[in-house]
Amino acid sequence: MILFIDACVRENSRTKRLAEALLKKLNEEVVRVALEDISFGVTNETYLKKRDHLISKGAFDDDMFALARQFAEADTIVIAAPYWDLSFPAMLKQYIEVINVLGVTFEYTPEGFPRGLCKANKLYYVMTAGGNYVPTDYGFGYIKTLAQNFYGIKNVELIKTTGLDIIGADEEALLNEVIITV
Ligand SMILES: Cc1cc2nc3c(=O)[nH]c(=O)nc-3n(C[C@H](O)[C@H](O)[C@H](O)COP(=O)(O)O)c2cc1C
Repeated sequence: MILFIDACVRENSRTKRLAEALLKKLNEEVVRVALEDISFGVTNETYLKKRDHLISKGAFDDDMFALARQFAEADTIVIAAPYWDLSFPAMLKQYIEVINVLGVTFEYTPEGFPRGLCKANKLYYVMTAGGNYVPTDYGFGYIKTLAQNFYGIKNVELIKTTGLDIIGADEEALLNEVIITV
């Protein structure tokens, strides 16, 4: 099963178009999680206390961990996120806060290093950017570090198109150039 984590918001999202081309090529069952449809709660002290309590009891079947369990069980992960403010939409960070659960998606070694508990053997990160100044440190780079070091998903691939909002850019050509290679 492919878990498609969709952080796209615009009806004519170019990022989603790339992601859909990839999903078509992968040709497997897809479960889509539309982040814009999730009302993430505030990660305040009450929330953290409840979470810590459940983790300490090993009560990982609680609803609070449903998204984390789903992430840990997926065979392949596809994340689609437009490039926003050198990074990605805040709802993707909220999703990460929800799925990073000690005992579900990762655990710690006695030396204090994270060890992955996720089944997926590959994570694709799909993004598009308006300009061509696109450092990947705070977007894809962050997700890659999490995937490889927390979740245990070593195989990570970036699929991207940039420069889409530059005046005169041939949006179709830029997208198709990448679509034919996925
Ligand atoms: C809130 C917001 C922040 C953005 N920040 C950047 C940015 O830092 N750098 C950049 O090149 N483009 C930026 N853009 C442009 C988007 O990356 C670009 O339009 C992208 O293709 C949008 O993807 P979509 O068509 O899937 O919505 C931003 C757009 C929005 C709406």
